[in-house]
Amino acid sequence: MKPLIIANWKMNPSTAKEAKELFNKAKDTGAIICAPFVYLSELKSDNLCAQNCYWEASGPYTGEISPDMLKDLGVVYVIIGHSERRVHFKETDEMINKKLKTSLAADLTPILCIGEKKGENAEEIIERQLEQDLNGITEKDTKKIVIAYEPVWAIGTGDFCQASKAKESLEFIKRKFDNKVLYGGSVNSKISKDYIDAGFDGLLVGGASLKADEFIKITQNV
Ligand code: PGA
Repeated sequence: MKPLIIANWKMNPSTAKEAKELFNKAKDTGAIICAPFVYLSELKSDNLCAQNCYWEASGPYTGEISPDMLKDLGVVYVIIGHSERRVHFKETDEMINKKLKTSLAADLTPILCIGEKKGENAEEIIERQLEQDLNGITEKDTKKIVIAYEPVWAIGTGDFCQASKAKESLEFIKRKFDNKVLYGGSVNSKISKDYIDAGFDGLLVGGASLKADEFIKITQNV
């Protein structure tokens, strides 16, 4: 099956004009584009992903965006529990669990990010995060979730987790869940294929997705 490649633009680029230019260069790759909320309605595609959402369907939650609003825009995927949200915005596994449930109810496909920080035991963290994040979600719904294994120390640092090492976490996850599993953390075009060869179902690409030529190479090399 074709690898699932997700471009996580994070809080970039700074203008809608640049976003459209980047999108036009990347769209033919077939990758899923995970753009900031404000650009999602401008980018016409069946391959759109949001970077976050709230866990209520509507109501007095100033500044928040619901999964139903994303669905209405034609968005298909939503990242939940990215480590930047866990660290900078103090998102807990309980909050992530609620976001997963509301996203599934809105018929979005969640991309659940998990992974250890430097010095932590990968299997212990993966086990705990999966248990808490998926708490109370039916087996049928759990199967719909894409899991992204992203060692926190590898994100945005250039210090990627070697595919042979990441494979240990992949196998640990696959022993528990038969879901699609992506690798994320400093992916570039020289190493992108290694993860697919190691058995990952795709990649979550951050920094390199902002450089159109490099991103296209990543998608071509897998
Ligand atoms: P990176 O980001 O590729 O810049 O390490 C990955 C991510 O945050 O999903």
